[in-house]
Amino acid sequence: MNADGRTRLNQTSEWTALAKHREELGDVQLRELFAADSGRGTAYTLRVGDLYVDYSKHLVTDDTLRLLRELAAATDVFGLRDAMFRGEKINTTENRAVLHTALRAPRDAVIEVDGENVVPGVHAVLDKMADFANRVRSGEWTGHTGKRIRNVVNVGIGGSDLGPAMAYEVLRAFTDRSLTVRFVSNVDGADLHEAIRDLDPAETLFVIASKTFTTIETVTNATSARGWLLDALGGGEAAVAKHFVALSTNAEKVAEFGIDTANMFEFWDWVGGRYSYDSAIGLALMIAIGPDNFREMLDGFRIVDEHFRTAPAESNVPLLLGLLGIWYGNFHDAQSHAVLPYSHYLSKFTAYLQQLDMESNGKYVGRDGREVEWQTGPVVWGTPGTNGQHAYYQLIHQGTKLIPADFIGFARPVGELGDRLKAQHDLLMANFFAQTQALAFGKTPEEVRAEGVPEELVPHKTFKGNHPTTTILAPELTPSVLGQLVALYEHKVFVQGAVWNIDSFDQWGVELGKILAKRVEPALTEGAEVEGLDASTKALVGTYRELRGR
Ligand code: F6P
Repeated sequence: MNADGRTRLNQTSEWTALAKHREELGDVQLRELFAADSGRGTAYTLRVGDLYVDYSKHLVTDDTLRLLRELAAATDVFGLRDAMFRGEKINTTENRAVLHTALRAPRDAVIEVDGENVVPGVHAVLDKMADFANRVRSGEWTGHTGKRIRNVVNVGIGGSDLGPAMAYEVLRAFTDRSLTVRFVSNVDGADLHEAIRDLDPAETLFVIASKTFTTIETVTNATSARGWLLDALGGGEAAVAKHFVALSTNAEKVAEFGIDTANMFEFWDWVGGRYSYDSAIGLALMIAIGPDNFREMLDGFRIVDEHFRTAPAESNVPLLLGLLGIWYGNFHDAQSHAVLPYSHYLSKFTAYLQQLDMESNGKYVGRDGREVEWQTGPVVWGTPGTNGQHAYYQLIHQGTKLIPADFIGFARPVGELGDRLKAQHDLLMANFFAQTQALAFGKTPEEVRAEGVPEELVPHKTFKGNHPTTTILAPELTPSVLGQLVALYEHKVFVQGAVWNIDSFDQWGVELGKILAKRVEPALTEGAEVEGLDASTKALVGTYRELRGR
């Protein structure tokens, strides 16, 4: 029994039933499942918004899905979901509400935190962002010397970088191509250097994105950026006011840094960093794509929010995807989950999902403060197809590990590609369909022999198949579709955290490294004796200083 009165997850009858079912299924083959049910390819599909989701190539039967849904019911996933949407403080270790869904709520919605409706504030900030974005885009907002802003540099890290950087890449076809938009995150000075070395300071706007405004990487880069700008333009505070804006929850620290709080775009502690790019954190993106496209993206988020909030368990796509992950992670010992987009524009999508998923569900302590006795979040990884096919797909096809994967593809290419390049889209998508087919059904030794392959090569050319995949197909990669995809994964992660009984909204695991870095720094710079350094780190620091010539 848990301290919160819940039965330990792995002792519930629903969990035990799934374990037994897993044993009974043994090494059930997708070939068999498809042979037994000619309608499987259409029956095991769902739609949400513009997304067509095919889960037929999973190692599941109707019984598996029913048992998984029973587990979700037993762990009250929908109860926690409703508490989240209501604004209850379900992030218990930080005593915070979890309301990224309020960021895309309609103007007339009422969502209360501590008795206050947060929706008017959300829209006031969106309106302020839109006004500012329009002024930058039109040239009305000028720099200190009166020149038009042509470059926007977002300085942030983690959720204050990955979301807007990913979405900017995804929506490039919708951006104002006359603007140069860059993202700086790494405290390695090379990142900032490469981002600004060819820019004219007089035409450059820095967007300093930090929820806390205390993150050392961001504050350091922002300070260097300010130095670079003032060295070139002079002008002190007046220049900073024209070239620096802040996206933050912390007005005090923003002011302390020297940014006028009139140039601050606010968000709130009930928005987690990794759930924040549809808040003020999306300002650089909004400048790039314009307020209308940004709002279209928010509408896309909302479609999936509403679906997650209201669709019954049988047709609830985030619930399904979350439960499939649990099926593999907890009952097949899968350690990782690949996300493989067949769109070049989604090149940063999986990196974004890494933070969303791994910072949310990479936890070994449950909401009750006890260590869990079951696997939690997977390692999330992947890059766009078809590049991955020529790199690591070998291991997915013929390696020894089970790697469930999501394939994301689009019916129509997006952007001004021109006819010749547009024609390449069918080849891209032929690969997309071929891969999930090969992964699921493989190639038997008989099929290999029938091709006249010499006997000694038959085992090498055999594909066992049975590698599970979800296919997500959408008409086109629009702002709305991007919003739908992100919300889908946000809620999938939520479902899994709810079942595993972990707090998906804190991130204590990143703290220790930050504290130690602060402690070690004086040893590197001043050769200070730092207490508590272990023998290995001490020797490494010594070697570093020697190599650094100190
Ligand atoms: O890595 C820890 C973390 O707190 C993330 O959750 C967050 O997205 C990132 O640092 C950046 O934080 P901030 O926006 O406060 O600078």
